[in-house]
Amino acid sequence: MRIILLGAPGTGKGTQGKFIAEKHKIPQISTGDMLRESIDLKNKIGITIKNVIEEGKLVSDDIVCNLIKERIRKKDCINGFLLDGFPRTVKQAFCLSKNKIKIDYVLEFIMPHQSILERISGRRIHLQSGRIYHVKFSPPKNKDKDDITGEPLIQRKDDKLESIKNRLEEYKKTHHLLVKHYIYEKKIGNVKYFQIDAMNELSLIKEKIDMILEK
Ligand code: AP5
Repeated sequence: MRIILLGAPGTGKGTQGKFIAEKHKIPQISTGDMLRESIDLKNKIGITIKNVIEEGKLVSDDIVCNLIKERIRKKDCINGFLLDGFPRTVKQAFCLSKNKIKIDYVLEFIMPHQSILERISGRRIHLQSGRIYHVKFSPPKNKDKDDITGEPLIQRKDDKLESIKNRLEEYKKTHHLLVKHYIYEKKIGNVKYFQIDAMNELSLIKEKIDMILEK
């Protein structure tokens, strides 16, 4: 089970990715999480990309492609993996095929960009586990506290208005060609490609994805 989740920021890739990864016992590989980890570790990559991420721009294809190639080589990917936020450009998609990394499913999350702001501005995360909440749509039991550990929830540094606008602009620049690429891959039988209405409720989207992946 090798799955790609495509979609604009805040459309629910990380949230649904967690459900899919747990159900199918595959690792959820989020380039966003990996990059943020590098920033926290203040390693070479982290220092290079800190401002890029906080401004909401895309990190260079070479950096993310190398991260993904190395990550997919790890043992836990032997039965599959879920890529959350990669690829973001056609060059990144080619990086998978050039390295003979086959993909079974591509799920594209779609929602109007006007609704994205509400989704992202209400997001709260538990840094240590990556658990994702929303102040209105998926609130924690206790305000600003993680349900399991009781530790504080935080807002991501790039979840500020200016940065969200930039992330959406970046998305608009690249997603059209990427989708075109995967529609072609579907046509020639290389992947199964589905669009997901990300405006639906969490549980409905989860059911829809379950149905797709059980086919
Ligand atoms: P990344 O971390 O990948 O961020 P993103 O793509 O902007 O996506 P998000 O994490 O913001 O949103 P999501 O779709 O996962 O939504 P979520 O489930 O949290 O990337 C960050 C940065 O890293 C990029 O800007 C770039 O700089 C860099 N980067 C990463 N990958 C890169 C790459 N491949 N190439 C180059 N640069 C890269 O949901 C959002 C909120 O909505 C949550 O609060 C959730 O609870 C709520 N929610 C979810 N679903 C629903 C629903 N159905 N109904 C109501 N609320 C919902």
